[in-house]
Parts: sequence; structure tokens; C-alpha cells
Amino acid sequence: MTPTHAASSPARTCLAIVLAAGEGTRMKSEKPKVLHQVANRSMLGHVLATLTQAGATDAAVVIGPDREDVAKEIQKVSTQARIFVQRDRLGTAHAVLSAREALAQLVDDVIIAFGDTPLILPETFSKLRIPLAEGAAVVAMGFEAKDPAGYGRFITSGTDLLAIREHKDATEEERAITLCNGGLMAIRGDLALALLDRVENNNAKGEYYLTDIVEIARSLGHRTAIAVVSEEEVHGVNDRAQLAAAERMIQDRLRQAAMASGVTLVAPETVFLSHDTRFGQDVVVEPHVVFGPGVVVENGTLIHSFSHLEGARIYSGAEVGPFARLRPGASIGSQAKVGNFVEIKNTELGAGAKVNHLSYLGDASVGAKANIGAGTITCNYDGFGKYRTEIGEGAFIGSNSSLVAPITIGKGAFVGSGSVITESLPDDALGLGRGRQTVKEGWAITFREKSQDKKRK
Ligand code: UD1
Ligand code: CA
Repeated sequence: MTPTHAASSPARTCLAIVLAAGEGTRMKSEKPKVLHQVANRSMLGHVLATLTQAGATDAAVVIGPDREDVAKEIQKVSTQARIFVQRDRLGTAHAVLSAREALAQLVDDVIIAFGDTPLILPETFSKLRIPLAEGAAVVAMGFEAKDPAGYGRFITSGTDLLAIREHKDATEEERAITLCNGGLMAIRGDLALALLDRVENNNAKGEYYLTDIVEIARSLGHRTAIAVVSEEEVHGVNDRAQLAAAERMIQDRLRQAAMASGVTLVAPETVFLSHDTRFGQDVVVEPHVVFGPGVVVENGTLIHSFSHLEGARIYSGAEVGPFARLRPGASIGSQAKVGNFVEIKNTELGAGAKVNHLSYLGDASVGAKANIGAGTITCNYDGFGKYRTEIGEGAFIGSNSSLVAPITIGKGAFVGSGSVITESLPDDALGLGRGRQTVKEGWAITFREKSQDKKRK
């Protein structure tokens, strides 16, 4: 893992424990809550990626029983993360203790995060760790809640955090407190197990509360601290409406970052980005464009309205859309043009090539400066296998042609309009594959006379 936002002392080791055993019944889904996506990545994936960015040197994820799907996602995002199963859901402290084996290996800092809280920034994790480096035993992340109902309240004295009182256990007076627990915590590694093992379940919910370690640490004479963040960052997702709210916030961040890096978004609120969308400078994106996962857009490109892109690379100065669809493996060469109602999949379009109207190119390579006429279709699939079409540099494909793969069109070759091409063409050849035209002079005059006679009778 490469720390980019490491805490004040970058040498400190850090174990991140992510709690992801939630069932998420309010999602009304077959899929576990933490696998639902925002900006094309699971919420759990966001949290794990952020922790890596924040300098976690080790990660453990606590999942529910029989959740191979969650385990698979974890392995996809973070090969180093260890997986622990919490058999019974007995509370957040119990969940953390499910990763006892990871906690037993000494690290400087332990961070606890929730898998359904995808908006936390890497800086925040670092902010939590700073007081640990300065000697605090426990640091809790707080925020000013607009509506504190349901959250744990921070009981403070001056800047000291004395305890965290869960909503259900709080007195009326305590419930008036608006500084709430965001859920994230940082614990000194050498104390973590000892503090967690002292947690009891004598509370309103009968659960082992992670939050109790604040009071426990203080009773043992340790210092505790608070790190305050915005309410947006602690936004947790329990239902589809909160998922959509998380998507809105992440999209807003991605748009701001794109604009800050030199991309013009004419109407940013209408452009949807992916967590991994990469832009060069002086890119212009017109309104209503959707970026799926894995898109790289180089300098000086223009993406017109209503285009949908995924798994595509667009080289400098190229122009795409309006109404273009780029699918995985589309590579649009420098200064190339892809026009309206064009679909491109697993195809390299050479520099300066043009495919301007109503075409499908799949499993193909198109040489530099080739011109693909309107309505050209690569017939790449026979119901069983996929086959390639190779089009040479400077070739000219006449409109409304079908290129039946596997096939090669040589450099500089021509294909006559309306052809069905089933045999390869050498360089500079002309391929025609269509019915020969006949001309019958005066035919229309005879036709009209006969037809009018018939109508009169
Ligand atoms: C928790 C905090 C509360 C804080 C709030 C912020 C505790 C006791 N309370 O309350 O102070 O204001 O988060 O959102 O920590 N989990 C498990 N196993 C369990 C229980 C929970 O994995 O046995 C996971 C959940 O999936 C979830 C997270 O831990 O991701 C938090 O649990 P939840 O029950 O939602 O805690 P809250 O009551 O919201
Ligand atoms: Ca919760």
C-alpha cells in the first residue's frame, strides 16, 4: 500500500478494521448493503481504497457469515486485506473483536471504519491519527448533526471527550447535545485489545458498544480526543434514498476535481463520472454525458452531448459524439472523429480516422486516416465466436457496407457503398459486393400508362 496522506509521523504502522457485517434490510436487496455502488464502485471498495490512500499498512474487514460475495469484492479491491467473520451480531465492539487475530499483532494505530460510510476522505483518517501520535489512547470522529436523533452523543468537558452516550441510553439533557459520533475511531494499537475486552453489554440494546472504550480509557487514566468533520462526510447509507444522496455527493466531488484539473464541464450537474475517470487538460465535456468505469480522456478532446463511455481511451484532440457509445476496449486515436449514433467496442481507431455516422465497429482495428462511411457494420459475431476486422491505413469504406469478419481490408483500399464484403481486399484494391444495377429506359412512362388504365376500368 502506498501512503499518500500519511499522518504526521509516516513511519507509524496502521491497521484499519472495516465493519461490514450489516445486513442492510432497508435496501430491499438480495445484495449485501456494502456491495451497492456509488460512482461505479462498491461502498466497501471506496472505504478500503480511501484507507489505503490514508496510509493504512494493514487492513481487516469484518463480514457476516456466508458472504462469499463480500469476500470476493474485498479481494478484488485489496489483496492484502484479511477477512474475519462475525457469526452473531452482538454490537460494534464485538464486531471489532472478531478481528482479534489482526489486533493481536502490534501496530501503532488502529482505525475503525464502517463499510456503509463511503464519503470519508483520506485526510480525515490522517486527522484521526494525529492525536494518537501525540499520546491519546482513543480518538473519536465527531460532527455537528442537524438532526442528532439516533446518533451517539459526545459528552465533553472543555475539549476533553469524557464518554459517548448512545441515543437509546441518553438522558433528555444528553439528547440535546448536537455534537455526535460519526462512527470512526482511532485507537492506540498497544491498548486496543485491552480496552475492547473490557466492554460490557449492560445497555439499552444489550450490545457490546465500541463507543464504550472512551469511558474505559479514561477510567484507566488515558487521554481521549475528538476530530471534527462535516456531516456530509459521515453520511451513512441504509436505504436507496441515502444511496442516491451519497451518489450525488460523490458526483459533486468528482466534477469539482475534474474542473479543478482543467476540464470544462459545460453543465457539470448533467455529467456523470466514475470514481476512476481520468482526464487530461483542456477537455470539453458537453451536457449529458455518462462515464462508466475505466475511461481515460487525454488532452484537448471534445465529448459532445448524450454520449456514453466505458472502458475507453480517447487520445488527444479526438472528438466523440453527440450520441456516441464507446464500450470496453474502444481506443480512439489522436484527432480521430466518432460521430452520432456510432457504437465502438474492442476496436482501435487510428489517428485521424473518421467514423462519423450510424456505424458499429466491434473487434476491429482501423488504420490512421481511414474513413468509415455512414452505416458501416462489422459483422463480428456468428452466435458462437467473435472475429476480427482489420482495416488498413487510409482505406475508404463506402456507406452502408457490411464487413463480414474475419476479414482484412488492405491499406488505401476502397469498398463500394452497399457492399457485403466476405473476402479480404489487398492494398489499394476496390471491393464490390452488391447486386449489379440495371437501367431500363422509359420504363416509368409505360408503368404510369398501364397503371392509370387499370384504375379507370
Ligand atoms: C453507531 C455508533 C454511534 C454513531 C453511529 C454513526 C456504536 C455503539 N454506535 O451507531 O455512536 O453515532 O454509529 O453512524 O458504535 N456492525 C457490525 N456488527 C455488529 C454491529 C454493527 O458489523 O454487531 C457494523 C454495522 O454493519 C455498521 C456499523 O457496524 O456498518 C455500525 O453499526 P450500527 O448498528 O449501524 O450502529 P449505530 O447504532 O448506527
Ligand atoms: Ca448505523
